[in-house]
Amino acid sequence: MNECVAVAHANIALAKYWGKADEARNIPAVPSLSLTLDALRTRTSVAFVSDLVEDEVVLDGRPAREKEGRRVVRMLEAVRTAAGLTAKARVVSANSFPTAAGLASSASGFAALALAASAAAGLDVSLREASSLARAASVSAARSLYGGYVELPAGAEFAEPLVAGSHFPLNMVVALTRAGEKAVGSTEGMLRTARTSPYYEAWVRQAPASCDRIRRAILDRNLEALGPAMEASALAMHASMFAADPPIVYMSPTTVAVMERVRELRASGVPAYYTMDAGPHVKVLTPPERAEEVAAALKAVPGTLNVIKCGPGPGASLEPEVSSTKPGTT
Ligand code: PMV
Repeated sequence: MNECVAVAHANIALAKYWGKADEARNIPAVPSLSLTLDALRTRTSVAFVSDLVEDEVVLDGRPAREKEGRRVVRMLEAVRTAAGLTAKARVVSANSFPTAAGLASSASGFAALALAASAAAGLDVSLREASSLARAASVSAARSLYGGYVELPAGAEFAEPLVAGSHFPLNMVVALTRAGEKAVGSTEGMLRTARTSPYYEAWVRQAPASCDRIRRAILDRNLEALGPAMEASALAMHASMFAADPPIVYMSPTTVAVMERVRELRASGVPAYYTMDAGPHVKVLTPPERAEEVAAALKAVPGTLNVIKCGPGPGASLEPEVSSTKPGTT
């Protein structure tokens, strides 16, 4: 059967998703709004092969661990059911950036898998259908089907593009502050927050107004309004987790040092604003002409391992098929 290859880029939420309205169906409780990033990319190939005994999943050159594999197989099952297929699949996926350290690898990974698996199964899915398929595996993945600024409303099954990156071409400088994987996965983290944090309800209640502010600032191309609203969304999300039982603290001393450096940059006249996800890395939003300077400043913070400079990235796409019935081949 055909091998299909898809490429998708990670996205970073400016208005954060944290919490599920429907756990079984993986539906978000709050609206989120993200920027897709050009430098953080996943390329995934899928082929359904009739003589395979079970699905084979290779991530970054190694067999997928059990938990990773289970989520992939769950999506493959959904695709098989929709296509009326029984064949198992061979999946090979590679990231251009560190996996599972809060760097949104699940977003680009499941977006690419949704497109590649659907195409390999012969399904003609729209981006909206692929977004919904991706969302069932990872809510943030629903947003990586689209490029630029992307919105996922509360209670929604699929994301929708807001405006192209060219509308407000900001850069995001990612400061990597720790190697290795995070201790608490995002699903476990948000379920624990919802179950035990006294601040979860307040987080959910304020999220729509916060997202509205962020959307308005993007449409107005107003970084001085966007930056503080984006920082507030991240800090409110982390505050809700700090109060969970047991507490969830993704930040490290280097995270806090980078946040401080960003505040100093701002005080010296450089427009730069931070956000953090379910991991210790810091992502800093800044105009493209200040990105070099910001990257150098973040790199110099003791504990920063590396920096990745990103611009707005494109939506997910299928690579043109390499025909298996070319003349001269069998
Ligand atoms: O969709 P998940 O399970 O990868 O959760 C993503 C959660 C955050 O990255 C913290 C926020 C977001 O909106 O991406």
